Amino acid sequence: MVSLSIIADLKARKIFNSRGEETVEVEVKTLGGFGCAAAPSGKSRGKYEVVPFPEGGVSEAIRRIEEYVKPKLLGLDADNQELIDKTLHEVDGTENFSFIGGNTAYAISLAVAEASASTHRQPLFVNLSRVKEAFLPIPLGNVLGGGKHSGKGAPDIQEFLVLPFGCKSFFEAYTANVKIHSRLGKVLEEKVSGFTGGKGDEGAWAPPLTNEKALEFVLRVVEEISNEMGVKIGVGLDVAASSLWNPKLNRYEYVGEEKRRDKGEQLEYILDLIRRFKLVYVEDPFHEDDFESFAELTKKAKGCLVCGDDLFVTSKEKLSFGIKVKAANSLIVKPNQVGTVTDTYETVKLAKNSGYTPVISHRSGETPNTHIAHLAVAFGCPIIKTGVVGGERIAKLNELIRIEEASKGRIPLVKLKL
Ligand code: PGA
Ligand code: ZN
Repeated sequence: MVSLSIIADLKARKIFNSRGEETVEVEVKTLGGFGCAAAPSGKSRGKYEVVPFPEGGVSEAIRRIEEYVKPKLLGLDADNQELIDKTLHEVDGTENFSFIGGNTAYAISLAVAEASASTHRQPLFVNLSRVKEAFLPIPLGNVLGGGKHSGKGAPDIQEFLVLPFGCKSFFEAYTANVKIHSRLGKVLEEKVSGFTGGKGDEGAWAPPLTNEKALEFVLRVVEEISNEMGVKIGVGLDVAASSLWNPKLNRYEYVGEEKRRDKGEQLEYILDLIRRFKLVYVEDPFHEDDFESFAELTKKAKGCLVCGDDLFVTSKEKLSFGIKVKAANSLIVKPNQVGTVTDTYETVKLAKNSGYTPVISHRSGETPNTHIAHLAVAFGCPIIKTGVVGGERIAKLNELIRIEEASKGRIPLVKLKL
């Protein structure tokens, strides 16, 4: 009998992401199902990520799908995700997906995964599940931001994040983030002259503030909401330090604050922020080649998740090295940094086996797709990082509300020990 999960058709088109940039969307038909996925895009991309699109952009990526990828995938079994992803690597033939594009590989890989799930009439997270006991992730929400995601005058640090832990349900945790975002907006409008309600790419407020003033406002609102709701909520940062690093002068340049910090000063600065603002999460506090400073910070910052984004770029090889030198205790998981579902899972598996907390993450340029919500549950990622508002951000979070409801208590919110 012919299997209903055989790939019968594949089609790619150009669409736009939340920043108005072109991206690729792929549809896959099996004999008994259908899947569709579009790729997100980063703006503060790590230099070791796979190449998003070939030269010639999305149009060229679509041409290469038609000419090279489609003929190889038609007739394969969508249930065999590993074979699909291996075939994508073979067709591409490069180390970094520069021939078809990492974003192209991502859209195809996820569309196939969804087509397989649809063939079996299962939600994606069930069909892709690699864990014995599933749980729902805690949402790490971006409430205030600057850096490359915002205009002039906003803080030099890219993201000010909130992490509600000790909540009873995903719904409650998401509610905490929404309340913080909303209260913070009101406080900033009242207290910060020149702030007109502007937001950055991920829906975070982008007020004209220094990093420390921004942290003071965020911490104050977090404490208020935490008391009102009776839940614990921590504050975090994505420093995105590769964007601040000047390799010629060997220093971090905080242009808005007119401060320069060498490697040692940066370490002291971050440690000081962790202590003073009780930070529970710090992402990319150093640039993408400085494993040494990461390790130094991880040793000194007890009780804080030290997370590598540009440092690891979701790569198994980079993470292996990081584990060896004890660089961090957490990593960002962005599937389009490596290109496929299988590569993503391999990295998550290594992280979990090595005591690293995997944080599945959106990109600053997003689509309304919900795939990362499903990957979080399927792969057992305890934290999901997205914005708090904006259609393309809430799509992921609202999907987790639906999963929580449908599970009728069988998929609990993860218990995070910090
Ligand atoms: P990007 O950044 O999606 O713009 O690359 C997000 C992040 O640094 O976490
Ligand atoms: Zn980051």
